[in-house]
Amino acid sequence: MNKRVLVTGGCGFIGSHTCVELAEAGYEPIIVDNLNNSERSVVDGISAIIGRPVKFIEADCCDPVAMEKVFSENDFSSIIHFAAYKSVNESSVKPLEYFKNNLGSLLNLLTLMREHNVPNIVFSSSCTVYGQADKLPVTEKTPRKEATTPYGLTKQMCEDILKNTAAAYPQLKTIALRYFNPIGAHPSALIGELPRGIPNNLLPYVTQTAAGIRECLSVFGDDYNTPDGSCIRDYIDVTDLAKAHVCAVNRMIEGKSKSGYEVFNVGTGNGVSTLEIVKTFEKVNNLKLNYKIAGRREGDIEAIWADPTYANEELGWKAVRPLEDTLKSAWQWQQNLARKK
Ligand code: UFG
Repeated sequence: MNKRVLVTGGCGFIGSHTCVELAEAGYEPIIVDNLNNSERSVVDGISAIIGRPVKFIEADCCDPVAMEKVFSENDFSSIIHFAAYKSVNESSVKPLEYFKNNLGSLLNLLTLMREHNVPNIVFSSSCTVYGQADKLPVTEKTPRKEATTPYGLTKQMCEDILKNTAAAYPQLKTIALRYFNPIGAHPSALIGELPRGIPNNLLPYVTQTAAGIRECLSVFGDDYNTPDGSCIRDYIDVTDLAKAHVCAVNRMIEGKSKSGYEVFNVGTGNGVSTLEIVKTFEKVNNLKLNYKIAGRREGDIEAIWADPTYANEELGWKAVRPLEDTLKSAWQWQQNLARKK
């Protein structure tokens, strides 16, 4: 099987880091991105890290004509499908856009994969499919709870589409990776997270506050039933997360999949609170963060972290980068951005 991989959403945060890891593992990434929530300059960052140009095609995965062209003009054995809308809040305001985009792109890709005999696809799922689990940490067998947002529902529906499609077509191999909370940036600080507008996620808000772009970080709630009262998440370094995709592609190419649809938790196994993130960020970067305790954010779950044993054993993958290094890299990337402006 050839080692070319179509990476949809390859200019995004996780997609760009995955392109680097693919290239370093001997794969050739081909990026497809419509630049809806990403910048073309990311392609230059990836090329600078890997030391050679990377192929970039500007196209929308929901566009059957544009994607037919991508499939007929490029020969690849595998797809990693990142391209999707990802704002939890926005999805409640624009549900139809989320259903159309997130389901439409996957359906389009699966149809084209059949027509062009492309056998392998890795899908970006999320721990959001678990909701607030009754028992922590969550394993892949933890039951999914009913989705509370259209975004979460699209992740569950895409998983179900993959499962049912793979059941019908034995040549199709699919892997859903359930990401926990990706943070940090590549050690080169040439690529990282590029949120548009006011960040929703914790780490970009932290780094922008440290940089003086935001005045004060609000810690959403200190009255949860957790040791320090703030929410707990499983923060995973984005380069570690990117490597899990390479392991997933290896597994499918080497014929090691146990079934046509497989699911893996991609997390560290460590639950870390919001306040611990704030304090560790301050310590490793030797700075003071302006923050205050604010009320709970609607829709937040109290605590979730992964049991990554199955990914460790079956994928041969493990998160290794210490949280301290990841938090340093996030700050270095933010400082690089400021220098570029
Ligand atoms: N938080 C703050 N202040 C902020 C931003 C976040 O205190 O300004 C807190 C949140 O309350 C939460 C934690 O930091 O406790 C992490 O929040 P994020 O918004 O960074 O991440 P979430 O866990 O809410 O959401 C992430 C992804 C989603 C995914 C979800 C799965 O962004 O795409 O994990 O649980 F669906």
